[in-house]
Amino acid sequence: MSKRYTVTAALIYANGPIHIGHLAGCYVPADIYVRYLRAKGAEVTFVSGTDEHGVPITIRAKKEGLTPQAVVDKYYTQIKQSFEDFGISFDVYSRTSLPIHHETSQEFFKTIYDKDGFIEEVSEQYYDEVAEQFLADRYIVGTCPVCANPNAYGDQCERCGTALSPLELKNPHSTLSGSKPVLRATKNWFLPLDKMQPDIEKYVTGHTEWKTNVAGQCQSWLKEGLRPRAMTRDLDWGIKVPLPDTDGKVLYVWFEAPIGYISATKDWLIQKNGTDAGWETWWRRSSPDDQDTKLVHFIGKDNIVFHCIIFPATLMAMGEDYILPDNVPANEFMNLEGDKISTSRNWAVWLHEFLEEMPDKQDVLRYVLTANAPETKDSEFTWKDFQTRNNSELVAVYGNFVNRAVVLTHKYCDGKVPVPGELTDFDKETLATLAAFPARIAEAIETYRFREGLSFLMDLARLGNKYLAETQPWQVIKTDAERVNTIMNIALQIAANLAIVSEPFLPFTGNKLRRQLGNGQWKWEEAGSADLLAVGQPIEDAFLLFEKIEDNVIEKQIQKLHDAKKMNELATKSVPELKPTVQFDDFAKLDLRIGTILEAERVPKSDKLLKFLVDDGFEKRTILSGIAKHFTPEEMVGRQVTFIANLAPRKIMGQESNGMILMAEDRDGSLSLIQPHKEVWAGASIS
Ligand code: 2FM
Ligand code: ZN
Repeated sequence: MSKRYTVTAALIYANGPIHIGHLAGCYVPADIYVRYLRAKGAEVTFVSGTDEHGVPITIRAKKEGLTPQAVVDKYYTQIKQSFEDFGISFDVYSRTSLPIHHETSQEFFKTIYDKDGFIEEVSEQYYDEVAEQFLADRYIVGTCPVCANPNAYGDQCERCGTALSPLELKNPHSTLSGSKPVLRATKNWFLPLDKMQPDIEKYVTGHTEWKTNVAGQCQSWLKEGLRPRAMTRDLDWGIKVPLPDTDGKVLYVWFEAPIGYISATKDWLIQKNGTDAGWETWWRRSSPDDQDTKLVHFIGKDNIVFHCIIFPATLMAMGEDYILPDNVPANEFMNLEGDKISTSRNWAVWLHEFLEEMPDKQDVLRYVLTANAPETKDSEFTWKDFQTRNNSELVAVYGNFVNRAVVLTHKYCDGKVPVPGELTDFDKETLATLAAFPARIAEAIETYRFREGLSFLMDLARLGNKYLAETQPWQVIKTDAERVNTIMNIALQIAANLAIVSEPFLPFTGNKLRRQLGNGQWKWEEAGSADLLAVGQPIEDAFLLFEKIEDNVIEKQIQKLHDAKKMNELATKSVPELKPTVQFDDFAKLDLRIGTILEAERVPKSDKLLKFLVDDGFEKRTILSGIAKHFTPEEMVGRQVTFIANLAPRKIMGQESNGMILMAEDRDGSLSLIQPHKEVWAGASIS
């Protein structure tokens, strides 16, 4: 084991609340890893924070009608709270808008610049002459050259998935002003990744232990050949380029954001000690063979190239003593109920909403997200699975074992850890199995196989259940109270072990269980022992660690998800396109009138048609209308309606209709009658 660990979790953009996909992909695995390291007594810092620059922030600001600063302030607070509520145990949760980060990333830029580590290049970029600014890729929309999607972005077509450059778009226009952008020359500073490729390749291929999905993405970038990448951008929201005459230029967000891990470490030290002295211990080697600090980045798959290629290249450009990431255990994505999680489509389970509705179920969610973690491929969250895993695993296996051990201790052993007697072969076999668990769980965590670690944890709870089921203390008590003492001692020792190994995965439960068993402050190293609980130690009264989740709770969540999706779809629906122009004479041919409905009835064998008798001022005419799904016959009688009076008669389901009642179709497809605002005489003509 290394001496010291710098563990980072992605600096998420402060442009919206966080959802279960974020937790599953990055933050829960990082937290399990760190909690385990701390339990082992390792020196570790766990840093994260919000990424507060870049186009995702300015786009959100525009959408919400706020300034970029107001947006990041709002979401920083909300995101930080969600992480705290789910027990993500950062040492610091920082933000890239802090002065310490601006200074640190500007120093990085200046150091590389002074070493001639950048190439200066003038290139042509799209410029919006109306908005008077250069356009980031996301601000340019045009037709995709691959699939002809008219709404492809300058960096990607979301319909066919092709990565694009703005110059490839046909018919480009600016989303800021709608105008056609022009090409204008501008100077930027590029990291010469092409020249650095041999060093980067050596570093990446040296890590044969990286996950296949991570290594695969790196290999495909390397195979394509790295190209110089601009580390500055022509934007006004971001960290100013620390060079003269660079107004309107900021550091590329993917240059400065990962440096945010270093600034966050400094922020942590400042908060703790009043000075950032010592930050280098976590980021730089004291000598070329110093291997004491291990750097691990937890991220989602969309961040792989930035953490495995671009950030290491920045660190290399800074000098040889920067520690490079030892591992980047990126996860794939988690889908939700058969569809990709999407913030813009509101297809997500938001953490703050989850907690409002299930305030004590953080560990249940942590459990389900880990059991289904997208470690090797995309995975899926469904509310049904959430319910099943809670009811059949946490309640029926884990909770049931602990509850039985505690209840029976109170019933047969006066609520205290009893004295064990002589052990049977079965006892010895059980204890030997118990002793092997912590190392298996530790190995799984150390190799970033958290799903497997969690399944071993549940196997330990199963071992406890099996032990009680086979030793049957409720039978034995009738004849041999001493034997029951041994059984309950062993069962309680298994429960104490469960508390230790649960802490990284299910910290709230691990804590509760510890308290239940007398608040033992065990270290990870002690796990596996059958002597964790001293004889005579009082055990608290039984309480439930997990509770059954009923069907109605789950159905409500599924409904909520579908309602949110529907609302979102409606919000994005636009009014139908205008029909081609007609001349006044054509319009004048239509005889539009107001009529009063005298009678209304359903048309037999049709679920759509209503038949009306309408007073048109001359006579009573029959009109059929396909609105039975929207109106009942009863509610139509007596209403005034607008109708076309000179439409040629038509036969519908064997009945003649003489005219057509007009309706307005609302955004959600519902129909509204078109009525005069005050009652008028039947037959009034509309012109
Ligand atoms: O994908 C994102 O939300 C990025 N803001 C992650 C940045 S991680 C690191 F580089 F800071
Ligand atoms: Zn396309």
